[in-house]
Amino acid sequence: MTPVATLRKIEKKFAVQDLISDGDLSASDLDLLFDLAESMKTSPRSYARSLEGRQLALIFEKPSLRTRVAFEAGMTSLGGHAIYLDHSKPRLGEREAIKDIARNLERWVDGIAARTFSHGAVVELAENASIPVINALTDFAHPCQAIADYFTLKEKFGTLSGLKVAFIGDGNNMCHSLMMAGAKLGARVHVATPPGFEPKAAVVAEAKAAAEAAGGEVRIFRNPEEAVSGAQAVYTDVWASMGQEFAAHLRAQVFAPYRVTAQLMDAAGPEALFMHCLPAHRGQEATDEVVDSVRSIVFDQAENRLHTHKALLVLLLKNGRN
Ligand code: CP
Ligand code: NVA
Repeated sequence: MTPVATLRKIEKKFAVQDLISDGDLSASDLDLLFDLAESMKTSPRSYARSLEGRQLALIFEKPSLRTRVAFEAGMTSLGGHAIYLDHSKPRLGEREAIKDIARNLERWVDGIAARTFSHGAVVELAENASIPVINALTDFAHPCQAIADYFTLKEKFGTLSGLKVAFIGDGNNMCHSLMMAGAKLGARVHVATPPGFEPKAAVVAEAKAAAEAAGGEVRIFRNPEEAVSGAQAVYTDVWASMGQEFAAHLRAQVFAPYRVTAQLMDAAGPEALFMHCLPAHRGQEATDEVVDSVRSIVFDQAENRLHTHKALLVLLLKNGRN
């Protein structure tokens, strides 16, 4: 199928308005996104005018390399434009009400991608803006990253159904998104955290229900070796997320047994790949040896942020205001 025909076919089936959490996308929505991302990765020039004249506002309270560049470069390569709004100071809602920001932006641009501390801030933007809103990371979830990660795993293994993905470390935003998206896709998501750092019980329950319906599983472990056993992917993330730096020293002690080392990769099995959303704190949650090993696909994940975010942008912004 030609890229144009691929896009037309996918556009007709994709009815999502906003991407606030992984719960907003069905398995079939995710498959459509993966198909379009694959076509865009293979034939980027065919999509060079897909968002001509469209504009995306990026509201970021926290720093970013991958997410910002993937959205900005993605908009440019689709013929559109992105406007970066640094909201590290003042944070969203401090200078003016979040609903007023939404009602202003919808008069000028076609979509908003927002990275905030509070998940509620992105929800409030979406509730008050008539244009699509994308969660570019909150303290609760990082759905854009999970989409790129499962797309990357599909590239590597051909299928996600039954694939075992072990997340080791903090039960944080990344852990939530990997559980929720993986469960829908029929993957087997195993999580190991220290006591007191488990993912939220409500997310575990939602992910378990989704996994049961899709033929996958979600299991929570204490022991990292047990969690990784037989896994095709071993995933970790920082021990102190953005905003938790004040607790980094204490967390470093608690999380030390959860470091991803060459030994832990061996415990997973010979086909296990190493994954990390990045930025990595080398020597903490993963050793240099693992991050730089032939099993590491962290830069493939980073590259695929671009292709998957372009697919997301085209599908969400296609009915833009301009
Ligand atoms: N993985 C990720 O979201 O990276 P940035 O924080 O650099 O955007
Ligand atoms: N859990 C990390 C992810 C960074 C992409 C954080 O929130 O800082």
